[in-house]
Amino acid sequence: MQTKRWQRTTTINEQHHVIEEAAALLRDQQVVAFPTETVYGLGADATSETAVQRIFEAKGRPADNPLIVHVGDRSQVEQLVTHISEIADKLMDQFWPGPLTLVLPSNHKAARNVTAGLDTVAIRMPSDPIALALLKETGLPLAAPSANRSGRPSPTDAAHVQQDLDGRIAGIVDGGPTGVGVESTVLDCTTEVPIILRPGGVTKEDLETFIPNIVMDPALADQAEDQPKSPGMKYTHYAPEAPLWLVEGDDEFFRHQLESMKAKGQRVAVIASRELSGQLNHEYVTSCGSRKQLKEVAGELYRALRYYKKADVDLILCESFPEHGVGVAIMNRLRKAATQKIIQY
Ligand code: TXA
Ligand code: MG
Repeated sequence: MQTKRWQRTTTINEQHHVIEEAAALLRDQQVVAFPTETVYGLGADATSETAVQRIFEAKGRPADNPLIVHVGDRSQVEQLVTHISEIADKLMDQFWPGPLTLVLPSNHKAARNVTAGLDTVAIRMPSDPIALALLKETGLPLAAPSANRSGRPSPTDAAHVQQDLDGRIAGIVDGGPTGVGVESTVLDCTTEVPIILRPGGVTKEDLETFIPNIVMDPALADQAEDQPKSPGMKYTHYAPEAPLWLVEGDDEFFRHQLESMKAKGQRVAVIASRELSGQLNHEYVTSCGSRKQLKEVAGELYRALRYYKKADVDLILCESFPEHGVGVAIMNRLRKAATQKIIQY
């Protein structure tokens, strides 16, 4: 399949033309990647089983991992669910459009494969103008997982989508780098106390400003234990090309680990904050922003995970980040990406 790549546009007319072409493909049950404020999504008509099946095939995604449905307005939510609780309603008012996905009771109007047979459906309204324009132009709810091959880091740039999916999908709309950098927060609103199934762009602290009671899925704390409720959380994810070692310790401990691995003749690459990068006397370092600006780190994280190629390095050493605010999502992704953890005792 030839993948059409629409370059970034500079005028409103140009942009309208791109949106029309991309929307025509989506209406024709094809799969098109587009930017959202979190990561690029791989969109298809959420009401068409045929279209949704193409997403699973292009990504190589396991069929039991349900997709998020993206909507352009609130009336589309009502068409997909049996009930909207008071809490869900309030959260939509506060956080939409934005990086918050709500899990709601499904009325089974979304295609069966979107929800992977569950009685719930995950829905969000993205804030990226291109995503919203596509939703408006098609008039369809769009199922859209992150636009990476299954198991790879999510794409935060059109070039990442092309690396993973060129020739496997109908088109890629280039909107430049995404802003938030980590995916949306997935919040289960079908229980009395809402449960964070996946930490993401909207933090627990943000949510707690509006709803008093909210819990983290216990499966997040110990990923090996209980079956996680968000089905996608059980698969290998976010994997860079070389094995990732996550270092949990102070800067001195990190430098020590780096030096001892180099002394063993290993080709070590580093992903670190600007603060730590500045202290390292090492050739292969990519900085992912200041550890005091976790939003910046979130924005750079997946680019950094895609930065090193298998042929060039034996392993990647990565710094750990403070677990507050969006740092919770950053560390959740890094723990999943890591094949090894080195903890300072
Ligand atoms: O920011 C995002 O959410 C991006 C952009 C493209 O919108 N999308 C995204 O989709 O990250 P994906 O498919 O990579 O991740 C969706 C997550 C998975 O962990 C999946 O298991 C969970 O949402 N999920 C989907 N439907 C669910 C449901 N009904 N109940 C519980 N978890 C659900
Ligand atoms: Mg994903």
